[in-house]
Amino acid sequence: MNDFVYENPTKILFGRGVIDQLGGELKRLGVRKVLLVYGGGSIKANGVYDSVIAQLSACGVAVVEHGGVRGNPVLSHVQEGIAKVRAEQIDLICGVGGGSVVDESKAIALGAASDIDVWEFFAKRETPQQALPVMAVLTLPATGSEMNGIAVVTNEETDEKNAIVCPALLNPKVSFMDPETTFSLSLQQTSFACTDILSHLMEGYLTTPAERLLVQDPVIEGVARSVMDSMAVIMKNPSDYDARAAFMWSATLGWSGICQAGIPAWGMPCHALEMPLSAVCDIAHGAGLSIIIPAWMRVAGARHEHRILQFGRRILGLDNPSSVDAVADVLTAYYRSIGSPVSCAEAGIDPDLDRLTNLAFDSFKQRGMHDYTKELITDIYKQSI
Ligand code: NZQ
Ligand code: ZN
Repeated sequence: MNDFVYENPTKILFGRGVIDQLGGELKRLGVRKVLLVYGGGSIKANGVYDSVIAQLSACGVAVVEHGGVRGNPVLSHVQEGIAKVRAEQIDLICGVGGGSVVDESKAIALGAASDIDVWEFFAKRETPQQALPVMAVLTLPATGSEMNGIAVVTNEETDEKNAIVCPALLNPKVSFMDPETTFSLSLQQTSFACTDILSHLMEGYLTTPAERLLVQDPVIEGVARSVMDSMAVIMKNPSDYDARAAFMWSATLGWSGICQAGIPAWGMPCHALEMPLSAVCDIAHGAGLSIIIPAWMRVAGARHEHRILQFGRRILGLDNPSSVDAVADVLTAYYRSIGSPVSCAEAGIDPDLDRLTNLAFDSFKQRGMHDYTKELITDIYKQSI
């Protein structure tokens, strides 16, 4: 077990109808004016927007809207949000939607509280000192952004998709999680979420050099199996409350840092390889992961053989997998079975591999993972074609 610091200042309200407590929470925090951040309209179609607006008007909180957040949120839209906050003297940023909306809300909260250009924080040239408070009404469980201090934004001028990690400033103050708001997700959106949640659980599990993790192994295995079990139920009945609820809480646990705390020397190579793919080709993050992970396993998995075989046995339920490739085959079949693509061709994209390699190489360098050479990175991308 490695030493660690774990900080989590988020209050979670989970269950049917929890959005009805939004007004009370805003009053408790003394908020008078919010920036309401949302995406392309799903919250208007499923009634969440109306519930939020009803709460805001009932408690007399003024609203400035900032809709139109894109999947894989972009810097220019973040900058527009920052300008609104400065012009309107906003007290709190309230993101209503999926991970993209919550991440953009955090980026706005960071940028609006400082004179420094917000990208400087994402480029790691500056360290953030303050941020406005954020709340999240989550409608797509996948990224864990509702209970972590991470935000991911793409600079569309350079195709750099960077993450910032700052729990003290960026963890939402309160997150509202009503599993019924996720009934309107399509099966495809749910399957992309499933691949993302599993990847957050898998990456530390697979890449640690530790033989076994006495706490983290059983925790990660249990949460991962719960994700796969609830996904199977959702595929048969998308409105099964218990399955949607299990899926939603598993997503939060999966990337809140709870499962990873204390794991020795682990990394996120598949996320480092996926970020350039979704930045350049604008595909869903989860779709990018189901393309990258089997390719990574086949090309770079030998050094993690012991952990990959254990993953095959304990999470995929294989009797006695004979090789890394055998596990990759079963994982590929699983992704296909839930409707997530396993190659660039299946996703209908034909990316420039040199461009991806250069972007990923810089990302590995930033993460201190110097054993990922350009040759190795290109080989993994070639395998994913
Ligand atoms: O834009 P709207 O209209 O809201 O529609 C969204 C969007 O089209 C839709 N949606 C959301 N809730 C819905 C719904 N449709 C129907 N019913 C609902 N209840 O789903 C689509 C995808 O939404 P998005 O927020 O983009 O998906 P996700 O939550 O997967 O977020 C992806 C972003 O998060 C980043 C990814 O890189 C990507 O940019 N990540 C953030 C992390 C973090 N903060 O910790 C970690 C992750 O590894 C990831 O990198
Ligand atoms: Zn992810």
